[in-house]
Amino acid sequence: MAGDNSRSIGPIVLLGPPGAGKGTQAKRISEFFAIPQISTGDLLRQHVKDQTGLGLLAKDIMARGELVPDELLYDMVAQRLREADCERGFILDGFPRTAAQAGWLDAFLEREFFDKSKPGKCLPIVIRIDVDYNDLLRRLTGRRTCPACGRIYNVHLQPPRVDELCDVDGFKLVTRNDDREEVVRERLNVYEQLTRPVADYYRDKGRLVSVDGGLPVDEVFEQILREIRGRAAATVSQGE
Ligand code: AP5
Repeated sequence: MAGDNSRSIGPIVLLGPPGAGKGTQAKRISEFFAIPQISTGDLLRQHVKDQTGLGLLAKDIMARGELVPDELLYDMVAQRLREADCERGFILDGFPRTAAQAGWLDAFLEREFFDKSKPGKCLPIVIRIDVDYNDLLRRLTGRRTCPACGRIYNVHLQPPRVDELCDVDGFKLVTRNDDREEVVRERLNVYEQLTRPVADYYRDKGRLVSVDGGLPVDEVFEQILREIRGRAAATVSQGE
């Protein structure tokens, strides 16, 4: 499918439980529109790896499947969103995850991004990817990731061509520390309690759309593409 890297896309938020396919779809959207994927999980994992102050605080919390406190994330996210590659748009994958984070993000974007003369710079389109609980468990316990390029596989559903090796660069695939079944169950509980209200926050503002994440990856992507293009068309006509 031919990409589209010529116009402003604006902010895109991918919501959904652990394993819904946010990372998988964010990578596709990122390649298609040539806008960055900003995954707070990936950023935090990098902090843990680099043993920064934030990483040291986040490490055990993440290993238990709990959420890192809101106030620890804001500087990290603000700093990333101010980088030049976010100018045409960006995909937030895993943020916001609490109602407080959603309120912070709206305030930040209104303050630093909203500009009526540039229609792409607006409040985010929020796309929630819905998947059944049992499918989520299977997806997460079967997930493997390439440590070099970040490509995501699944030993049950999307295996690599050669067992445990990345199709792209041949690196040995790794299992995430928080994909053990007991931690996965905790992450799904935390999602129900703290992240579901984020969908309500955006629904009340008329900015939430949902897609069926139980379909094959290409079909989920098609649905997302339709939603993004619909929003882009509406934004252009509002700006005229
Ligand atoms: P994070 O890294 O954000 O993890 P998550 O939200 O739990 O989501 P995942 O990455 O597990 O799943 P995904 O939806 O991206 O699915 P994927 O595409 O990989 O967060 C980790 C931790 O960091 C949190 O627990 C928390 O501690 C901390 N954190 C991060 N952000 C935070 C925040 N904002 N506030 C506080 N704390 C924060 O797909 C999963 C599997 O399914 C793969 O194997 C894939 O191949 C397969 N798959 C995907 N799509 C399909 C499909 N359509 N059909 C079949 N299989 C599919």
